[in-house]
Amino acid sequence: MLGEAIQDAMNEQIKNEFYSAYQYLSMAAYCESASLPGFARWMRAQAREETEHAMKFYDFVLDRNGRVVLQTIEGPLVEFGSPLEVFERALAHEQKVTAMINDLYGLAVRENDYASQAFLQWFVTEQVEEEKNAGEVVETLKMVGDKSEALFLLDRELGQRDSAEQAGEA
Ligand code: FEO
Repeated sequence: MLGEAIQDAMNEQIKNEFYSAYQYLSMAAYCESASLPGFARWMRAQAREETEHAMKFYDFVLDRNGRVVLQTIEGPLVEFGSPLEVFERALAHEQKVTAMINDLYGLAVRENDYASQAFLQWFVTEQVEEEKNAGEVVETLKMVGDKSEALFLLDRELGQRDSAEQAGEA
């Protein structure tokens, strides 16, 4: 059985992960409108991952005989000044999520909830990857600057994320 404080925090995190999916879908829509379909595919793949993260929390709460209580998801950012701003915001968002996961882990430690600690380990590791992925694109975009040919090539490269992941799943 889940303690009440952990259950509340996990329900909050279900919302946060769905919000992340919503935010990345909004970024995908912006990228489509900026004629960057590869960036958009990258963001769509990210949104799918966030939905999976939300469902991991959802299932964990149920597995522990807890009660899932879904919450209101606020609206995402819609307008961005440039692809670089999109990825800078994505990186800042992931840094915030890392802090949320760390707080949740700290709560599980204080509550002596070992099962939740073991569950949250996956997210602790995943956040390293999440920050790295967004950070790498930020650095590349800074190098690209306003060179449209380089941006075109980067768009093609990022667009392969989806196909690579789907091939990996097959
Ligand atoms: Fe669910 Fe991007 O962390």
